[in-house]
Amino acid sequence: MKQIINVEMKARTVEPIECKTDVLAVGHFSDAAGLDRIARELNAALDGAIERVIKLGDFRGKSGTIAVVYGSDKTAASRILLVGLGEKKKATLDTLRQAAAQAAKKSVAVKAGRLSIALHRAFRGRLGLDGMGRAMAEGVCFGSYRYDEFVTKDEDGRLDSLKVELVDADAARTRTLTKGMSAGLAIGRAQSYARTMANRPANVISPAALAEAAKKLARGLKNLACTVFDEKQMAAKGMGGVLAVGSGSQNKPRFIVLKYTPTSRVKSGRPTVALVGKAITFDSGGISIKPANKMDEMKLDKTGGITVLGTMKAIAELALPINVFGIIPSAENLPSGSSYRPGDIITTFSGKTVEVQNTDAEGRMILCDALAYAVKQNCDVIVDIATLTGACRVALGKYMAGLMGNDDRLIKQLQQAADQSGEKVWPMPSGDEYAEEMKSKIADLKNIGSKFGGACTAAAFLRQFVDDKKWAHLDIAGVELYERANEFTAEGSSGFGVRLLATYLMNLAK
Ligand code: BES
Ligand code: MN
Ligand code: ZN
Repeated sequence: MKQIINVEMKARTVEPIECKTDVLAVGHFSDAAGLDRIARELNAALDGAIERVIKLGDFRGKSGTIAVVYGSDKTAASRILLVGLGEKKKATLDTLRQAAAQAAKKSVAVKAGRLSIALHRAFRGRLGLDGMGRAMAEGVCFGSYRYDEFVTKDEDGRLDSLKVELVDADAARTRTLTKGMSAGLAIGRAQSYARTMANRPANVISPAALAEAAKKLARGLKNLACTVFDEKQMAAKGMGGVLAVGSGSQNKPRFIVLKYTPTSRVKSGRPTVALVGKAITFDSGGISIKPANKMDEMKLDKTGGITVLGTMKAIAELALPINVFGIIPSAENLPSGSSYRPGDIITTFSGKTVEVQNTDAEGRMILCDALAYAVKQNCDVIVDIATLTGACRVALGKYMAGLMGNDDRLIKQLQQAADQSGEKVWPMPSGDEYAEEMKSKIADLKNIGSKFGGACTAAAFLRQFVDDKKWAHLDIAGVELYERANEFTAEGSSGFGVRLLATYLMNLAK
């Protein structure tokens, strides 16, 4: 089977113009007065070729646009890739991240194995080189990613690896870039790992296979440990929610617990955090079966759990000084003679009982056990992430995740991490009115509310399993998937949440 394209990366002190490479990426703002220094020098070496592209109007520096100018024997680079950065005053780290992604995507498309990036130069240090190094590394991983491991036909010249360098003429600047780049590379690679895991179909990734992958990950990182409960151990613990959802499939459920313990000292006052991720390896809806159209997309219903797995990989590699649990309940939701049914009353791990009114509201059934488990581990902060409701996708579309919670400070911290990581969130309610709808007449709770506000009632359900812990919930239904490729990235899993959660934890550990 094919390996996913490997990204190798370093930073180098060199005049960009002297950089011998397949592609040299240079940024250009749409409202720039003229060419900046690098572009000016390249333009002179190429007898005005860059200016001509701009004068002709083929490239105006709008964000999301690029132009290729071919090098000559007077330039060290074979191709100059002009990347639009949009308006100066609107530019953020995400602008740079996306520009780097676009450059990497283009390099892979033209099968250019060496990419040199000088995109940060146009910003003139306005955003801080550390953050810029990180954003560019994350962007490179994101843009070069594509999922083709099961395509057996050989593609001529397909890259096995992309060798990328961040180039800057100043040695001190290169050093700062390198620092950010290393962190960005760890996060970017973790995100690509998550995207591959999520893109793999349900006949490849069963709950047991996911558990094996988690164990393998933990074996490779000495600060990470993994414990897996199988269905018998879950039964002994009374994890009725996960067991009920998993009961219809031959692929038995698993409860995966990752524990990250830093080797360095944790500063006082740092909370122990639990990341909880929904990992339904396939969601057919169960007895309350879904329509056939696009049901294949429900292989991505494991994304939340995989985001947690990817985030644990990133923070373990970054060796963050903070204690983190990764809790991943995993099951396959299928209809069969052994499935759970509408009407069933399930006793969950917390002891609370739930009347099942729709077997397709399975995410909350597995998450409630995992949240209660996090409470039992005495975690101070719990953040869950899940492709939980179609209603969230209807409300926010494919651009932002829904963010609910019971603690204003935690909500703010996650919003800040979203701004920094470029993985956007939008606050939504989940309070008493919504919780009221989740009351059952014959059990403590039921698993669906009324026709309206489905993302909020789902969150209100989860809220009742976190006791007095600080808790936030990310509903990523809608943002987990690119239905089509765009300028920045390939179609399929977006890996949403790895950058967001890693950033949140990095900020917290600081
Ligand atoms: N996994 C789905 C939510 C989903 C829908 C994710 C579309 C991504 C795209 C979830 O398990 C589900 O089926 N939710 C139901 C809840 C309903 C039965 C209350 C839904 O949204 O229809
Ligand atoms: Mn469902
Ligand atoms: Zn689901």
